[in-house]
Amino acid sequence: MKKNIAVFGTGCVGLVTAVGLADIGHNVTAVDTDLNRVKDLKKGYLPFYEPGLKKLMKSVLTAGKIRFTADSSRAVAENDVIFVAVGTPSRPDGRADLSQIRNAFDSIIENLDSGKTIVIKSTIPPGTVRSLQEQHSAELDAAGGQIVFCPEFLREGTAVHDFYHPDRLVIGSSSGEAARLVDDIFFPVAGKLDVPVLKCSPVSAEMIKYSSNVMLASRIAVVNELAEMSEAVGADIHEITAGVGLDKRIGGAFLQAGPGFGGSCFGKDVSGIVAAAEYHGVDLSLVREILTSNARQRQRPAVKLENAVGSLRGKRVAVLGLAFKAETDDVRGSAAFDVIEYLINKGAVVRAHDPEAEYNFIRAFMKKGYNCAGGVEEALRKADAVIILTEWELYKRLTPQPLIENMRGRIIIDTRNILNEKLFVNEGFTLFGTGRKEQKPKARSRNRSEFVNAAIVSM
Ligand SMILES: NC(=O)c1ccc[n+]([C@@H]2O[C@H](COP(=O)([O-])OP(=O)(O)OC[C@H]3O[C@@H](n4cnc5c(N)ncnc54)[C@H](O)[C@@H]3O)[C@@H](O)[C@H]2O)c1
Repeated sequence: MKKNIAVFGTGCVGLVTAVGLADIGHNVTAVDTDLNRVKDLKKGYLPFYEPGLKKLMKSVLTAGKIRFTADSSRAVAENDVIFVAVGTPSRPDGRADLSQIRNAFDSIIENLDSGKTIVIKSTIPPGTVRSLQEQHSAELDAAGGQIVFCPEFLREGTAVHDFYHPDRLVIGSSSGEAARLVDDIFFPVAGKLDVPVLKCSPVSAEMIKYSSNVMLASRIAVVNELAEMSEAVGADIHEITAGVGLDKRIGGAFLQAGPGFGGSCFGKDVSGIVAAAEYHGVDLSLVREILTSNARQRQRPAVKLENAVGSLRGKRVAVLGLAFKAETDDVRGSAAFDVIEYLINKGAVVRAHDPEAEYNFIRAFMKKGYNCAGGVEEALRKADAVIILTEWELYKRLTPQPLIENMRGRIIIDTRNILNEKLFVNEGFTLFGTGRKEQKPKARSRNRSEFVNAAIVSM
């Protein structure tokens, strides 16, 4: 059934949700406090790169199914369901910063009238819905309002696909009626695909979201440590994960070794649950260790290069990939920060490249000693070594030729294992992957005619 829905926040989660809900038939008003963003969105300009979103946005905007505003009061007054998808970043002590949630709630509660439902999509620590309910109980009771927590599981880079193909719909609500309403809203996607719908208490839903990210982050952290071990013993992490993943209890997904996890969620949510646990007197020592292990993994590409060249002072290094993963321009939590910081602190000169994320990276990392090249070949020019950090298609398709033509050195740190090792080794490159032995070019054995020529010269 068609609903009038306001969505607070137009980041990746809010905008994809708003555009998706409009596309499946609802009337949507997307609200943001960032006036420039709202102005751009009204013209159809996207604030970030997300595959498939531009086309979908154009279609719902042209059809008049979505509008954008900074007027939160009116958005609440004119809609029956209010989604909240504002940011919940980490505070310096690891706790979730809920100020955007509180500000959004202040404007929602101020304008709350008869029977509206507030659906939180932002990731929040366990107990947040309960405390919001307590804090605003008078207004919620007077208006018959409900708060539901419906955690978001989309992945940047495939967010549009994920909106239409969720693995599950989790609805945390203490009201059966409010839970049914959220179920109905998503019926055109979840219902049609027979997606499992889990209805539970808000606090269980809050724990489901944090726990999912803990499980995913721990999987990456463990695989990266096993990759390090593989390098030490001469095994190949791809063979190991293939063998391990065939065990049905483990499964093969999400077992890629790399430069340590990044992004705006895993680190933040692992820190968030550790801090929430401390508050409740629980010591999540194993979960906390994920962060320590990951911090070390994120330095490994630079350390590997340093070990290979002896000293980084004066070395020119091309860094390919600044986004925390491919198909996004999001640099939040990207391993590129740690790698470039390490390199420039040790006196290297860095030229970086990313097909989508250079602008965001430069804005977030204003330090001397590096710049962005605007093109792969430009980044490679006169480089002693190249470090590949993001698994962009563009880098997967790299052949030795542009490296031979532009670089002065022959060292590649391929943290994502995306290059064809043989191809590069045959052209004289030394390749350091993740979780596999370094590949060095074989010392070329001289053929018969070279021996004859050498003999003639020495006569
Ligand atoms: N990005 C992801 O991949 C992802 C995936 C799942 C869950 N989440 C969670 O979803 C939430 C949103 O993530 P994001 O990456 O989209 O956030 P974001 O920080 O990119 O965007 C948040 C947006 O909310 C706006 N905003 C802040 N306060 C507001 C207010 N009072 N009213 C209206 N708008 C307001 C900001 O201007 C900004 O545009 C977070 O809690 C995050 O943990 C994110």
